[in-house]
Amino acid sequence: MNPNETILDACLRNGINLEHACEKACACTTCHVIVKEGFDSLNEASDDEEDLLDKAWGLESNSRLSCQVYPVDEMTVIEIPKYTINQVSELT
Ligand code: FES
Repeated sequence: MNPNETILDACLRNGINLEHACEKACACTTCHVIVKEGFDSLNEASDDEEDLLDKAWGLESNSRLSCQVYPVDEMTVIEIPKYTINQVSELT
């Protein structure tokens, strides 16, 4: 784990191809993840992130936008939602 690396960057570095349609600019919801362990150790979400999360498919109380989160706990566990807004709109 790199200290200045977001969850999204850590995933990409490890070959987990999380979507990131806005290129990490906190302007979409495609990098949405659900934090299963280590949620309380994460940096707080900004107002912009909170506003976007409200639009995310499958929002949960421990949802975050992975491009905005810097994990500090070695045991941060995430789940990738089944759909993102992009994928849903492609299906309809
Ligand atoms: S990649 Fe768009 S908000 Fe994270």
